[in-house]
Amino acid sequence: MSCPLIFYGFSLPMSQQHQHLYKHELVYLTEDASHDDVIELINAEAFGPGRHTRAAARIREQGAHDRSLSFICADDGETIASVRMTPVLAGGVKGHLLGPLAVRPSHKNMGIGRELVRIAIEAARRKGSEAVILVGDPPYYGPLGFQKVAYNALDFPGPVDPGRVLVVPIGEDVHPRLKGTIGWRE
Ligand SMILES: CC(C)(COP(=O)(O)OP(=O)(O)OC[C@H]1O[C@@H](n2cnc3c(N)ncnc32)[C@H](O)[C@@H]1OP(=O)(O)O)[C@@H](O)C(=O)NCCC(=O)NCCS
Repeated sequence: MSCPLIFYGFSLPMSQQHQHLYKHELVYLTEDASHDDVIELINAEAFGPGRHTRAAARIREQGAHDRSLSFICADDGETIASVRMTPVLAGGVKGHLLGPLAVRPSHKNMGIGRELVRIAIEAARRKGSEAVILVGDPPYYGPLGFQKVAYNALDFPGPVDPGRVLVVPIGEDVHPRLKGTIGWRE
């Protein structure tokens, strides 16, 4: 049986104005089936109805995500953010696709998104993943260790902006091996 990963944190309030009104008590937990419904709501709120048509979503439809590398953040018992990781073969690299990452609007800009990404990468590293890959905004993910994948090196099952395909290389010589199709793997 896997042991849930639990991190406790007290975040700074969103603004000086709210400082005296509310303190957040944040807990980071490994995802389990009891989180499914609320994660669906958080993702629907963040990405809207078009979310299932995105290229990364099509990879996620090919198979299950890995719950042992997927995490939620709860504030005082309420789930308010989620990150999921899906095992992929990207060219010759056995890695994980990070996403969706979403934080409820009430809890944005408190460092929760960054912390979920950090925890997910660390968990992937411990599990022997060769890389963490995603499609996302370079200004947000760059400072978290993501690098651009060579232009059009990976074929997604749908259109992607090649400038937004990013990777945290963990294994040896990851970049030259990130060439070819990306899809779900066992
Ligand atoms: C993107 C998202 C996950 C960030 O989570 P968060 O917990 O609010 O972010 P953090 O608190 O870790 O980081 C906040 C910082 O990131 C910046 N930031 C947020 N979104 C950004 C983006 N798309 N591009 C660049 N910077 C971004 C903020 O301006 C802030 O900057 P600051 O620290 O200089 O003030 C969250 O806004 C969200 O759920 N958005 C909707 C869904 C989404 O776009 N997911 C990402 C898909 S790639």
